[in-house]
Amino acid sequence: MKNIILIGFMGVGKGSTAREIVKQSKIVAIDTDDIIESMEGRSVKKIFEFEGEAYFRELEQRVAFWLQNSVRNTLISTGGGFYKVSNLKNIGKIVLLDASFDGIYQRILNHPQSKKKLRKRPLFQDIKKAKELYKSRVSEYKKIADIVINVENKPVEKIASEILKKVKK
Ligand code: S3P
Repeated sequence: MKNIILIGFMGVGKGSTAREIVKQSKIVAIDTDDIIESMEGRSVKKIFEFEGEAYFRELEQRVAFWLQNSVRNTLISTGGGFYKVSNLKNIGKIVLLDASFDGIYQRILNHPQSKKKLRKRPLFQDIKKAKELYKSRVSEYKKIADIVINVENKPVEKIASEILKKVKK
């Protein structure tokens, strides 16, 4: 099996979808933000704060080369900007979790720990700016994806089973 890479905007549910896929299958999962945090020994928020976004993007690219060279048969959830790495296509099958900006924002607000969810995301501090970022990325996500899954108002169990069915084809 090729790796499966979950891409999509912040808050769309890449992490919870990955956890549900693990539940429904025997696939092992890793997350690019988690790898970066353990490489650096600090949170994504702190990396942005002390080193800036460009440095964070360099770390994403390093992780992407490592994934391409060393990781197989794995489900990889990614940060919302990871899709920009130069070698994404060489890492595995790319699955986009797609939803409208309003759907994503509602999903975050509905979460019992919504404040915490927003606080840890440096690029989701200002809703207008986040919406602009969404608009600038949405067509790029679709362009690079092998599979697009509409996740709006869909239970995570259904999203996970849909992905598993489609990647097997
Ligand atoms: C980012 C998304 C974040 C994280 C970083 C940058 C982005 O991950 O990688 O804050 O550029 O969209 P999530 O998509 O898990 O929030």
